[in-house]
Amino acid sequence: PRPILLTRHGESRDNVRGRIGGDAVLSEAGELYAKKLANFVEKRLKSERTASIWTSTLQRTILTASPIVGFPKIQWRALEEINAGVCDGMTYEEIKKNMPEEYVSRKKDKLRYRYPRGESYLDVIQRLEPVIIELERQRAPVVVISHQAVLRALYAYFADRPLKEIPDIEVPLHTIIEIQMGVTGVQEKRYKLMD
Ligand code: G3H
Repeated sequence: PRPILLTRHGESRDNVRGRIGGDAVLSEAGELYAKKLANFVEKRLKSERTASIWTSTLQRTILTASPIVGFPKIQWRALEEINAGVCDGMTYEEIKKNMPEEYVSRKKDKLRYRYPRGESYLDVIQRLEPVIIELERQRAPVVVISHQAVLRALYAYFADRPLKEIPDIEVPLHTIIEIQMGVTGVQEKRYKLMD
């Protein structure tokens, strides 16, 4: 068995302000998480020479990975957060107020709803296919540092959760989800590193 560790980036300054999308840096709490994560990964994968760290191309995941030393890091555009299109940078309150029809359509069918000039969950799931193929092919452990919508989809794939649940799966900040792929199936552990 070899572990796949899934985690969101540490809290970003946009998370603090409730803004979606963007390319913000980490908050103080987010920076602390990055250090704790590095500690955890170095201990957990100490004996694993070939492990690698995968991030998106956005600052908040790259900064979350930055305290981890001794493992190769790979950036994937496919690991970027769902593209909120015209709503990028807004809060949910602002969307509700300024674009009420969009807000309602998304609420009705979050899986299929596509942000104007952005993506739907189904789009995200589709663009993750090469990442999943590569994750399946790897023999060594992988630490995936990505974003909420993306991790919902990746988690659902490994935990065998139905498509329709994906947009509502809980993937909390500052928590590592460890997936073990063994011959007998998939096992899961969660490590909450901060409150
Ligand atoms: O910025 C996007 C969020 O991480 C995704 O959350 O799909 O529940 O709005 P949501």
